[in-house]
Amino acid sequence: MSGQHYKNAKSILVVDDDLAMRRFITDALKEGNYFNTKEVENGIQALETFRKETYDLVISDLQMPGMSGMELLNQIKELNPSTPVIIMTGYPTIDITISAMKEGALDFLTKPFTIKKLLFKVDLYLKEKSIQTKENLNIEGMNWKLNEKIKKLSTIDLICERIEKTGEDNDDIFEEIMMLALNVTGGEKCLLVFFDEANDKFYRKTFQTKDGRFISKEDDAMVESLKDFFKEVVRKRDGRLLSSKEPNGLYRYLVCAPLMIRNKVFALITVTSRNAACNFTQKDLSYMLNITARASLHLENKLLYESFFTSIMDTFESLVLSIHERDHYTNRHSRRVTKLALDTARAMNCSAYEIESLKISSMLHDIGKIAIPDYVLLKPGRLLDEEYEIIKKHPAIGENILRSIALFDDERKIIRHHHERWDGKGYPDGLSGENTPFLSRILSVADSFDAMTTDRPYRKALKTDEVKSELQKNRNIQFDKNVVDAFIKSGVMNS
Ligand SMILES: [Fe+2]
Repeated sequence: MSGQHYKNAKSILVVDDDLAMRRFITDALKEGNYFNTKEVENGIQALETFRKETYDLVISDLQMPGMSGMELLNQIKELNPSTPVIIMTGYPTIDITISAMKEGALDFLTKPFTIKKLLFKVDLYLKEKSIQTKENLNIEGMNWKLNEKIKKLSTIDLICERIEKTGEDNDDIFEEIMMLALNVTGGEKCLLVFFDEANDKFYRKTFQTKDGRFISKEDDAMVESLKDFFKEVVRKRDGRLLSSKEPNGLYRYLVCAPLMIRNKVFALITVTSRNAACNFTQKDLSYMLNITARASLHLENKLLYESFFTSIMDTFESLVLSIHERDHYTNRHSRRVTKLALDTARAMNCSAYEIESLKISSMLHDIGKIAIPDYVLLKPGRLLDEEYEIIKKHPAIGENILRSIALFDDERKIIRHHHERWDGKGYPDGLSGENTPFLSRILSVADSFDAMTTDRPYRKALKTDEVKSELQKNRNIQFDKNVVDAFIKSGVMNS
């Protein structure tokens, strides 16, 4: 054993092919007063060591050459089922995590982790183990219960993390919920049913198996046959287990949990199994309830956010409309610029988040004009220098209007800089090149294109070809050349 050997100290075996990681862990364990550690670089060495000496805890990497952490876990569980094993991995997929938990892994550590997190888990499990060994040495059932409790906490932790990381799309969230439900229960099929309270009806949304989605007539038959059971779940707003004494071809065992928003059931998640050996237990039901409770909260927050967001957007758009009352050009211009900017952003493979952000900023980019006096904003002729200086304030004013809403931090920056130029001669900050936010550079091209192709009191609109050559002439002078190229190539000019 490395380090000083303490007769009564807990012994820990650390298995990882990465030397730096092994050292990090043993040093961290020393900080936590665990000096009785041994480190080995692969599963085979770990097994040899484990056969010769007793360990209170094993911490093993998942991916190692020769023998994986999962194989090692299996072997250790065969040799000594009560030894706690913590598995480390940089890529914790749901499948691996759940199967490792089922194989008997006590917990997962996702790399990179902090010393504090490692010691927290080691302390937790070694303390639990010492309670078990000192006070309940002969009570195997108690050991099992404690391990089950810890495993459950870890699984719930994982469920929460997965659901909260799921994207914005409702279908993605439902798919994730169904896959989680299938994984934690080990069932064959998962059914998502929506409940229409007004008509007291259930609508089957989809069936999901681990291999994909299936929709068949059988599904409708299942919903029909389970109508009364589903009604009971809705009424009690609680999950239920069900088993069929007579094989009915649809399910043998079934576990069902409700999805709720503001305390009302709006959907049910049901996992079924036709396999006689796969009998769902209270533990499966409790996992399912954890999934649906967490997913319900996530969906409710999402809906609240969406309605809050919609009302904020309505308020801002009405501000834009109030500019329109004074200056008919601004409102139509905002809508056209939004379309042009979004088409360009798509052609440039922008992410969904960037597209959404650009949509908001394009709609609101001239909101600062609300503070520009009529004699400047509505002046039919060319502006005097001092009047132009007033107009130049609108991006900063726009940024200020949005400052009160923390949600619009990114959009504020895009709006502030939509009149910057590639050569640094724009306003308000004279930013140049890539110092100007990328989405502001897209907005700038879309904005200029629309301004040039629209009749203004002081000049006629330019023809599309003329604007095209104007944009090209200004590549890397006024505009980002990549944006100009994408703008022209995407064909948005002709749409
Ligand atoms: Fe503007």
